[in-house]
Amino acid sequence: MFSALFPLSAATAADFAQLRQPRVELRNVVKQYDAHTVLNGVSLSVEPGEVVTILGPSGSGKSTLIRLINQLESLSGGEIYIDDKPIGQLRGAALRQLRSRIGFVFQQFNLYAHLTALQNITLALEYVHGWNKTDAERRARELLQQVGLEEKVDAYAAQLSGGQQQRVAIARALASSPQIILFDEPTSALDPEMIGEVLQVMKNLAHSGITMIVVTHEMHFAREIADRVVFIDGGEILEVSPPEEFFTRPQHPRTQRFLKKVLDPLHQESSL
Ligand SMILES: Nc1ncnc2c1ncn2[C@@H]1O[C@H](COP(=O)(O)OP(=O)(O)O)[C@@H](O)[C@H]1O
Ligand SMILES: [Mg+2]
Repeated sequence: MFSALFPLSAATAADFAQLRQPRVELRNVVKQYDAHTVLNGVSLSVEPGEVVTILGPSGSGKSTLIRLINQLESLSGGEIYIDDKPIGQLRGAALRQLRSRIGFVFQQFNLYAHLTALQNITLALEYVHGWNKTDAERRARELLQQVGLEEKVDAYAAQLSGGQQQRVAIARALASSPQIILFDEPTSALDPEMIGEVLQVMKNLAHSGITMIVVTHEMHFAREIADRVVFIDGGEILEVSPPEEFFTRPQHPRTQRFLKKVLDPLHQESSL
């Protein structure tokens, strides 16, 4: 039902296909806040066009991990490479350029409530990326149409439902044609009936060829769209496997316990 509602335009799919997709590589990444080690030597490669979902309990370091990829946080150790180039020391224009290649979608949408859906998208295109108003508005309309919100172009963000706001946020994250898009629990703040519309937009995107790294608690979604599932606990990656294997034959005892807990919360083990 939803895929008919939100087809990704051929133009945008071609955009992504034409751009050479970067490879993201984390090598022995460490993140500490004061004495607290939040990520303890994380290594992971994400291949061009790959869709990777990151699962793990609250506080395990999932947000920190993806925030490091576009340098919303700075590394304490190790390195992150995008296309074999280290990003840890990037500053100024080079850092802005990196961020323009990476879209980020937050749990809390982070839209400007007093701006319209259109303005939320054109703002960065005009003032960060230097687009003229006409081109920025054309791009914003095209993106809003792709996420099924052509009728909400002039609605203020504050007037939109949570699901609609998150779809605007996804459109905004795609505005500068990033080659990588990071999602940090994009449906966790939504009422249940709005989750499907956001997941559908993400599903379309996953088929477009863009590289996606998605932190989520939506297990069915992870199983359906992921090329690989990463399980993180206590700041370490404990398991990386294709979804079928991950959900039917989890290897690590902590993965097994986590899955039991989230898939069958009423019958979890007392040791949790
Ligand atoms: N800015 C910060 N300052 C201090 N501690 C932080 C900060 N951000 C996150 N943490 C801590 O790092 C750990 C991992 O957090 P986070 O990456 O948000 O986990 P998750 O997204 O898996 O729930 C938590 O213990 C959290 O309290
Ligand atoms: Mg988090």
